[in-house]
Amino acid sequence: MGNGTTDRQAGQVDKNRLPRHIAIIMDGNGRWATRRGLPRTAGHKAGAETFRRIATYCKNLGVQYLTVYAFSTENWKRSETEVNAIMMLLKRYLLEAIDTMEKDSIRLRFFGDMTPISPDLQALAHRTDEITDRLDSRDFQANICLNYGGRDEILRAVRRFAADCAAGKRRPEELDEASFSGYLDSAGIPDPELIVRPSGELRLSNFLLWQCAYSEFYYTDTLWPDFDEAELDRAIAAYQRRDRRFGGVK
Ligand code: IPE
Ligand code: IPE
Ligand code: MG
Repeated sequence: MGNGTTDRQAGQVDKNRLPRHIAIIMDGNGRWATRRGLPRTAGHKAGAETFRRIATYCKNLGVQYLTVYAFSTENWKRSETEVNAIMMLLKRYLLEAIDTMEKDSIRLRFFGDMTPISPDLQALAHRTDEITDRLDSRDFQANICLNYGGRDEILRAVRRFAADCAAGKRRPEELDEASFSGYLDSAGIPDPELIVRPSGELRLSNFLLWQCAYSEFYYTDTLWPDFDEAELDRAIAAYQRRDRRFGGVK
């Protein structure tokens, strides 16, 4: 942990200074399964359970937004069996969410290019979108990044802005950081204060490239299926000990 912090302090969360937005790269499912002699798909199933648990925990803590990286624009390189298993787990989650999100006041959005996603999964996402529209904008919101890449998100935003310019609705000179953010999948949502990556990898893997400009990073060797509430407490507590200067001097 460093900074002379004891183990007990390490997970001590100050509920008055929570990040509004936490983003997580849900990594390590495959290694978790392989270590148990199971197929990689078993790791994704276990990882989906962890997502349910951590989303509920964030909501109960009072974190407003949780963004999770579920499937990247690069993950299509994996076997058809693995890709299908991930899509099937997402379908199962959405079917469940359609029944419960209204009662639990959980908003759900997707980040990413949905065009190559199967029509049945797209139809489910459309239904969760409609339910989200009816919920209060102050309710907890989970954003699922599906066929998401930070570069792809920026390119799609640039194309839409260029199209608005061509249509005479916008002028290139008026583009600034705030108006550009409005073209991203994360439009209207504050940047994540904290980005968590389990499984020991120290990279972003094309996650939230625009939004991460001033995010605090937290890495842990724990594999995503083993990630739990105590681990998230440690991540939040570590974030709360950071000195965020935003380029200024204190
Ligand atoms: C993260 O776990 C889930 C996805 C990328 C879909 P991985 O499947 O990448 O697990 P490892 O990194 O191989 O252990
Ligand atoms: C990032 O994990 C994507 C998701 C967790 C969905 P990867 O496992 O795909 O990333 P790399 O290949 O280790 O960079
Ligand atoms: Mg991985």
